[in-house]
Amino acid sequence: MQANELDRIVTTALADFAQCDDPASLENAKARYLGKTGALTEQLKALSKLPAAERPAVGAAINDAKAKLEAALNARRASLADAKLGRALAAEALDVTLPGRGLGIGALHPLTRTLDRVETLFRSLGFEVADGPEIEDDFHNFTALNTPENHPARSMQDTFYVEGGMVLRTHTSPIQIRYMETHAPPIKIIAPGRVYRVDSDATHSPMFHQVEGLWIDHDVTFADLKSVLTEFLHRFFERDDIRIRFRPSFFPFTEPSAEVDMAFGAGDWLEIFGSGQVHPNVLRAVGLDPEAWQGFAFGMGPDRLAMLRYGVDDLRLFYENDLRFLAQFT
Ligand code: PHE
Repeated sequence: MQANELDRIVTTALADFAQCDDPASLENAKARYLGKTGALTEQLKALSKLPAAERPAVGAAINDAKAKLEAALNARRASLADAKLGRALAAEALDVTLPGRGLGIGALHPLTRTLDRVETLFRSLGFEVADGPEIEDDFHNFTALNTPENHPARSMQDTFYVEGGMVLRTHTSPIQIRYMETHAPPIKIIAPGRVYRVDSDATHSPMFHQVEGLWIDHDVTFADLKSVLTEFLHRFFERDDIRIRFRPSFFPFTEPSAEVDMAFGAGDWLEIFGSGQVHPNVLRAVGLDPEAWQGFAFGMGPDRLAMLRYGVDDLRLFYENDLRFLAQFT
């Protein structure tokens, strides 16, 4: 009878615990079985009224029942605590079972894509790609480019001077010099890179890009310059209705010099290249005989090309690193 009674208490208690959905009602339920006047506690009290011979077995059975209740209580306490945490997380929208947010997929900057495109197109026209330092000495940035100290052309470019008379290169033209110092002609290169000037408005950034071009051989002429630039522009913009015109200009390192303007169809002229036949003094500065070698050089602004290609009217947008802007071009 005692054993049946114990089983009944355990079964009822387990069902009772399972129905409690908050810690307070669970602790109340516990008191109903294990408290001072709890059902199981009453069984223990009744133990003393049993004959001595029966006590050990019944006592052991009561302890066994008590252990079952305590295990069930602990399990229920844990699951109630879990449920509480779950509700807290849900309230904070912190569902740990959600898949992770993942890393966004990166993409190349529109200016990088433009430079890549320029390189690819010039390679297809037989040009190699050369490079040079962004911090230049006076000789390569100015002097060897027929721009001696006190030459008025030095004031055409507001220069960032750094320690030791070095400058942040104001154009990519010093790469012409460095390349001719280390390579014998024929030379047919482009040289893309960052350049720096004290200048900042909607169409000027203090750091911007240029792509230098240089083709030196025995008989490279202005006609070659025109055909190369025309071909390049047609391929770059993928349209045939591009007009191109040469406008007389001045650069110390080219003679004659010309600005190259382009127009889409009947549109307005846009200045896009500086160019000219390499000045004999530049060839002499790198030890080439101007009677034997000649050719053209040009400098262009790929940032401008990117603005035209992508229809962007403020250059600074490219440098603000606002993903809402940049992501439009991927
Ligand atoms: N270096 C010139 C500039 O920055 C551009 C140029 C390059 C002009 C080569 C002629 C020849 O404005």
